[in-house]
Amino acid sequence: MELDTYDKAVLNGEYGETKQKMMEVLVSLGKIYDAERLIEVKSVQVSGASYKTVGEEGLSWVNSLSGKVVVPSFLNPIGMPRLDWESLDIPSDFAKKQLELTSAYAKLGIKLTCTCTPYYYQIVERGDHLAWSESSAVVYANSVLGARTNREGGPSALASALTGKTPEYGLHIVKNRLPQIEFHIDNPEAAKSWTNAHYGALGIVAGAIAGNKIPLFTGIRPNRDMLKSMGAAMAASGAVALFHVNEITPETRFPFFKKHIEEDKRETVIIEVAEIDELFSELEPDAVAVGCPHLSKEELESLASLLDGRKVVMPFYVFAAEELKRGNEALYSKILKSGAKIVPDTCMVVSPLADHKGCIMTNSGKAFTYLPSMCGSIPRLGTLEECVKVGCGEK
Ligand code: F3S
Repeated sequence: MELDTYDKAVLNGEYGETKQKMMEVLVSLGKIYDAERLIEVKSVQVSGASYKTVGEEGLSWVNSLSGKVVVPSFLNPIGMPRLDWESLDIPSDFAKKQLELTSAYAKLGIKLTCTCTPYYYQIVERGDHLAWSESSAVVYANSVLGARTNREGGPSALASALTGKTPEYGLHIVKNRLPQIEFHIDNPEAAKSWTNAHYGALGIVAGAIAGNKIPLFTGIRPNRDMLKSMGAAMAASGAVALFHVNEITPETRFPFFKKHIEEDKRETVIIEVAEIDELFSELEPDAVAVGCPHLSKEELESLASLLDGRKVVMPFYVFAAEELKRGNEALYSKILKSGAKIVPDTCMVVSPLADHKGCIMTNSGKAFTYLPSMCGSIPRLGTLEECVKVGCGEK
């Protein structure tokens, strides 16, 4: 693999021991994947941010690192809000460890924007090379924004943050971004009335079939929040890091992709609307959780208008980045007035909040997939409107 002067200097330890080790990680990764060189990344999103997932070993590893990041770097959602966590049902020994882990990352210069939707808080352009690690953020950046990132692990993302580089392989290379499997919906007319939750359900079904292939969807017209919901679910039920929706996602409009889509044959799968509908159930929930991935401004507006004048009758958690609050205080107060709790910077499945809560109702295909294994909870899928109605005790 070709290394430039800077790469070699870091590798020789001229920038300190931590960065030297980090460069070794990137070079090894590059060799495994036959990368020809390392390329610069515009930003990094670091996973391994919740103490629930990294444990003591992860905490002491992050504590052992030194040096500062050289590109804008953000953290994945953590296991609880950094402030005011006492008002939630968070065990204090977990909180202590979580805060220690968060400050270890902050010492490295990583911004405590702890979210799986970092794309709402920074400019990401088509063709940008990134090193992001949270699966829903990766699939959104690649598919909806047309940026380029592999699905990084915690250590490789951290290595990119501290060196500004990543090996050029996988989804950084245009020819590796072409669709490999095609999905059609048996009744595209019915899909016209789908909500974000239906697109999450589509993601669950398609992701399980696609595995780590790159899907192409035709005959549907999802908006950005629907694409977010669909991609997050596909990354959870499968390992999808990039998908295309014909005439909707940016790369399908490029002549090179258009030609490939029209001329090349690929496996085609028909998904029935009935398969999507079957995922919605009537179970009696014990709590409601929305905001997986973290809410967009538009989702916040819809939720605030649905909860306006209503009162929740069970724990109702809303997950969003702390940054979303700025400028949206009026929407926040409508939601809070209903008795719902807005939990900033926290991931619903890597927080003790959702652990063993019985049945949790959600509008997220990704949460629906992970709640049983990560939290020991039974999930119920519903639209945002249904989540609000049920959460407020209305049938
Ligand atoms: Fe975000 Fe956690 Fe869901 S990282 S996408 S809230 S599982």
